[in-house]
Amino acid sequence: MSSFNKIYRKRWLQARLAHEENGTRSFPFHSDKKMAIRDPIGFLLVFLRFFLKITGLLAIGRRQAKKIDLNVNKINSSKIGIKPLRILQLSDLHLDEGNIDLELLVWKIKEAGSYHFAVITGDILTGWTSDQTILKRVSSVINMLKPEYETLFVLGNHDSYQCVEPLEKMGVKVLTNQIYELAAQDFSCGIQFIGTDDPHYFFTADAVKIMQEAQDHFYKVALVHTPELYEVASSNGIDLYLCGHTHAGQFALPGGYAPLKRVYKGKRFYKGAWNFKKMNGHTSSGLGTSAINARFFTTAEITLHEVTSGSKSS
Ligand SMILES: [Fe+2]
Repeated sequence: MSSFNKIYRKRWLQARLAHEENGTRSFPFHSDKKMAIRDPIGFLLVFLRFFLKITGLLAIGRRQAKKIDLNVNKINSSKIGIKPLRILQLSDLHLDEGNIDLELLVWKIKEAGSYHFAVITGDILTGWTSDQTILKRVSSVINMLKPEYETLFVLGNHDSYQCVEPLEKMGVKVLTNQIYELAAQDFSCGIQFIGTDDPHYFFTADAVKIMQEAQDHFYKVALVHTPELYEVASSNGIDLYLCGHTHAGQFALPGGYAPLKRVYKGKRFYKGAWNFKKMNGHTSSGLGTSAINARFFTTAEITLHEVTSGSKSS
C-alpha cells in the first residue's frame, strides 16, 4: 500500500503544483468549463455584508456562527460486527479566519467520547499562511483530537498543497488520492479510507481511479471535500461518503433551507445525512465561516458517525 500511495502522491503533487502556480482550476462539474477563478456570487456578498451591517443582523449572525452542535449519525452496515466503528468528523474550520470558539470546540470533542478515527474533510484554512500564530492554532485543534487509531485529512478547495507537510509533522495522515487501510482486527472486516483531493476546483482522474482501487471486503469510507463525487463513489461500492464544503449553505432561510448550496453537482446532498443507492453519506455543516463571518438558520457541527451491525436509525 505504501509504494502504491507514493505513486499517487507524486502524481497529485504535480497536478496541484501546476494548478496553484499557474492560477488554474479544474471544474469538471460546472456547466461553464471556461469559467475563470472567481466567486460567482461575489457581488452578492458585497451587497449582503453591507445590508447585514446596517440592519444589525450581522451581530446576530455572528453569535449564531459561534454555536457548535455535536450531532450523532447512526449507520447500519452488515460488514461491521459486534464492535461499532466510531468516526468523529470535523470540516471547514477556516482557522485563519479565527471565528471558532475553540474552548467550546474542546468541550464538544470531549462530549463525543471515544472514537476510532478523527477525520477532517478539508478547508482547515481559507488561504495558506506560514504565520506561526495561525499554525499553532491548527496544531492546537489537531491536539484536541484523540482517536484510537489516526487523524485523517483531505484537502479542500481553499487548502494549498503547502499545508500537507506541516499537517503530517503534526501526526495527521493526509490522503491525496490515496488509501489508508486498517487490517481486520477489532472489527469483523478491515477499514479502508479513500481520500481524494478536492473535486470542486482540483479534480483529476486519479480521484476516480483511487475509488476503483479500494477493495470490497473492506468497509470503505470515502473522504472528499464536497459531495460532487457521490456517483463515482457509489458505483465503486463505497459504503460511507463523508464530506463538507457547503457550510449547510451558511445563510439559510427559516426552517434551514439554503438557496445557495455552493456545489455544482449533488446539490440535494448539501447538508446532513443522506443516502444514494446503497451508500450512506454525510455533508457536514462545518465549523468555520467563509466570506462573511455569520450564519443564519444553520449551526456549526462536529459529527460522530457510529457504524453498527444493528437496525438503522439516524
Ligand atoms: Fe470548501
